[in-house]
Amino acid sequence: MSDTQQNIIGAGVPRIDGPDKLAGRANYAADNLSPDMAYGYGVFSTIAKGKVTRLDVDEAKRMPGVIDIFHHDHFPSLYRTPSSFVQGNKVEETRLPFEDERVYYEGQFVALVVADSFENARAAARHVKVEYASESAVANLAQGLEDNGTQAGGGHSRGDAASAFDSADTTIDVTYHTPVETHNPMEMHASVAYWDAQGNLTIYDASQGVVVERNALSKIFAIAPERITVHAPYIGSGFGSKLWTWPHAIATAAVSRELGRPVQLVVPRQQMFTTTGHRPETRQRMRLATDGNGKLVSLRHEAINTTSFTDQYVETCGSVTKSLYSCPDLTVSHATTQVNRGTPTSMRAPGAAPGLFALESAIDEMALAAGVDPVQFRLDNYAERDESQDLDFSSNHIVEATKQAAERFGWHERNPQIGSMREGREIVGYGMAACNWEALKRPCDARVSLRADGTAFASCATQDIGTGTYTIVAQAVSDVTGIPIDRITVKLGDSSYPDGPISGGSWATATTLPAIAGAARNALDELKRYATGSNGIFAEASADDLSVADGALRYDGKQASFAEVLDAARYGSADGEAHTEAADSKYSYRSFGAHFVEVRWDPGISHLRVSRVVSAIDVGKVINETTARNQVEGAVVMGVGMGLFEATEYDERNGRPVNNDYAEYVVPVHADQPEIDVILLDYPDLAFNEYGARGIGEIGITGLAAAIGNAVHHATGKRIRELPITLDKLM
Ligand code: MOS
Repeated sequence: MSDTQQNIIGAGVPRIDGPDKLAGRANYAADNLSPDMAYGYGVFSTIAKGKVTRLDVDEAKRMPGVIDIFHHDHFPSLYRTPSSFVQGNKVEETRLPFEDERVYYEGQFVALVVADSFENARAAARHVKVEYASESAVANLAQGLEDNGTQAGGGHSRGDAASAFDSADTTIDVTYHTPVETHNPMEMHASVAYWDAQGNLTIYDASQGVVVERNALSKIFAIAPERITVHAPYIGSGFGSKLWTWPHAIATAAVSRELGRPVQLVVPRQQMFTTTGHRPETRQRMRLATDGNGKLVSLRHEAINTTSFTDQYVETCGSVTKSLYSCPDLTVSHATTQVNRGTPTSMRAPGAAPGLFALESAIDEMALAAGVDPVQFRLDNYAERDESQDLDFSSNHIVEATKQAAERFGWHERNPQIGSMREGREIVGYGMAACNWEALKRPCDARVSLRADGTAFASCATQDIGTGTYTIVAQAVSDVTGIPIDRITVKLGDSSYPDGPISGGSWATATTLPAIAGAARNALDELKRYATGSNGIFAEASADDLSVADGALRYDGKQASFAEVLDAARYGSADGEAHTEAADSKYSYRSFGAHFVEVRWDPGISHLRVSRVVSAIDVGKVINETTARNQVEGAVVMGVGMGLFEATEYDERNGRPVNNDYAEYVVPVHADQPEIDVILLDYPDLAFNEYGARGIGEIGITGLAAAIGNAVHHATGKRIRELPITLDKLM
């Protein structure tokens, strides 16, 4: 750390990419147009299961501007990717586009029209005539279980949960459901691809992971990864839907090569409900038991989620259950059942978001059954170490988070009697829940250059999906070098930069910053060598004698700016690269917190609202107070959506999502927002990385829907075990 920049880490530095976004200078994937661009538009299956028996493109081909129409009989031959997370070439839908005539879900690409304009492609797509042999589709989780049963999806077991349950004092056995939720980022999924004369592919894609996409495309096109460049400098969010490469990006690259010209393809909003992932439907059976002192003695969490017929996607609902509470006899199991929907994918806090709805609602039910206040019940049962891995937590302040949030919220004013807290026409309900998310740090490379004009330049092939990654990278460079933020350029979202992590899993901060800091230190070391070399400005000194402050080197009471050092030595820049490793496995690394929620229920007009949320979050060191708070606030809003509004509804007859647009897929609007009060605990987790930061994107949504449900129960006496908690369920 430089001597004078001690406060840049943690400061609420405004987003450095903000001005470009506001001014319209930030180019998103679909914006990368060129004069000879061709435009693709999909033809999408209108059945959920069966096959294409006839595809008549004659009329469509005669439409204005049409260049070509691709489908399973007319599509370039591609290769499969192993879709391995470890190899870094994962895709979620492993079936290659147009691979055969089979239809696995409504909204699957069955043809792709390419024309000289978007409008011409879209118009022609309506004239492609598709005939199907339709088969009866598996429409939902219940049908999947009936028709196909389940596939095992892993789990965890310790002790003997069944016997402990059978001999316990108080038990509950309850089942929760969560619906399909769809990510719905503002920016549409879109790809722009072109191939140069040497057969190198450039693709602009709305991607949360340019390196993984490059690697997957390298497998699919069977060319070296170095010949592919994936660009995603700006992303209009993704929430997980843009983590892995979907069929539209592969198809865009394939037809661009075939046609020998750049192609742009935007996925229509309706098909963002079918062919770019979703959070699957879950059914979760919870069996809990306590002894006479309110101590948990048995916990079983059995989760089933829907997956597609092409791939197995496991929603790891019990990922938190195995370590949040102390319990000797515990079983977590995951299973999937196949339905005729597109392949699901990670959506903000995958596993934990639906999983903590079940767990934290069940903990509330268990506390009430045991006659213990729900806050006290948690304080009595939180695990002190990770019993699932037999490891200490690196840093865990959940007790303090729970107590601080309870105090700020005013939990002590709660009258536990159901429906007892009235204010005018409204009944006030108080509920709370714990929140939790794993902390991961992956291998990472980064590069930093200190330039002769006094600026710095940092690059890493990670992305900023709107969360503030550009800004915190600049903060880290500034922290090490003392160069002010406005003289630091950060470049992300380009697979040709040093390999960085996906923007997902709340990994990016913890993974990227140590590599950036290491690269900046290595650049400083090079600069010090220049300063102490034969032409150096401090030729008489040794590198170890130099100190760094404010973008300058100091020696023996003298100071020379980086620019002066470089100028004297005749170097344009001093450069450093660094590689940092994944986190070790000495500890269990997790983030913790608690949500306290006030709801108001007006039984006269059946109106329910979330009026107040207090969240205390322990994510280790907070790198940027503004963007961190923003992440938790955004996650709380998304949690309100999950609790009260969000569900993708499918027509049982054809497997079609029916509320597949912004008008009908209901998310919270401004009038639905509660007053949100976020407490960031800010205890550095230095066992995890040098900044002590664990990442903050996902934890805020975990537990929120349960806290709402628990508050609704307190207000109304109704225990709603199926999300979302809509008014019809309260009447
Ligand atoms: Mo997140 S679901 O890892 O984008």
